[in-house]
Amino acid sequence: MQCQAKRGDPRPVGVMDSGAGGLTVVREVRRLLPCESILYFADAGRLPYGPRPPEEVRVFVYQIVKFLAGKGAKAVVLGCNTATAHALDYVREKVEVPVIGVIGPGVRALASSPVRTAGLIATEGTVRSGAYQRAIKERLPGVEVIAEPCPDFVPLVEAGLVDRQEIQRAVENHVQVFRKTKIDALILGCTHFPLLRPWLEAALPGVRMVDPAQETAEELKKVLEDTGLANSPNGCAEPSGPELEFYTTGSAGDLQRQIEVFLGLTGARVHHVDLSML
Ligand code: DGL
Repeated sequence: MQCQAKRGDPRPVGVMDSGAGGLTVVREVRRLLPCESILYFADAGRLPYGPRPPEEVRVFVYQIVKFLAGKGAKAVVLGCNTATAHALDYVREKVEVPVIGVIGPGVRALASSPVRTAGLIATEGTVRSGAYQRAIKERLPGVEVIAEPCPDFVPLVEAGLVDRQEIQRAVENHVQVFRKTKIDALILGCTHFPLLRPWLEAALPGVRMVDPAQETAEELKKVLEDTGLANSPNGCAEPSGPELEFYTTGSAGDLQRQIEVFLGLTGARVHHVDLSML
């Protein structure tokens, strides 16, 4: 990932999530945009977002986007489906920097191959918001959506995927509905869930797994290029490579461990943040 020359806008991109799930988005952003520096924000002290009222999530997401913009982020990705469902439009109207969500990209990823019946697994907040169902209806009218809230997946991922038996049990429990009504594709509509992909694939053989992360990174790339914010329009950046900085409202040690497990990065710079102090 070493580049020869410095070009473009070197400011970082912000990515937020309620916890470690958004690291699945960071993974794809780093793959597609290896020259962009990233600031990651995990609101682990207030996780889960799933059961919270939309108004509360909106306030949290706005605080975080402002924090990241204050740290110099030139664009922010809501790497969280619940945050996107409840807060994308709200935050976009209130801040200057471009804000990107994961639901539009998720539906584009779904549309990339033929589909008749799609499963959706997400938090209860995302399912209840109807954001995916509406976006699918608009882009793919006629596609039937079967939505299954899976709030119990989130703590299993946050814990670092250690309790494999419990994961197996939870996955078996939630896929029953997709065995009754056959689905062609399953949207992993919570950024924590791609980390459960091996279990989901084993439980639903032949079903296409749809992870919005890659398409989200594509959208970010396009937005940065279209707005002249990309660091590396010709594939170049600082010789030292991009910077990665992590913030959490929870435990810095926990996020450090999650970064090791999910991104394979040791010694990441992680800071604890108290948003009420800002
Ligand atoms: N990772 C989040 C999402 O994509 C939600 C997890 C939570 O409930 O906080 O929806």
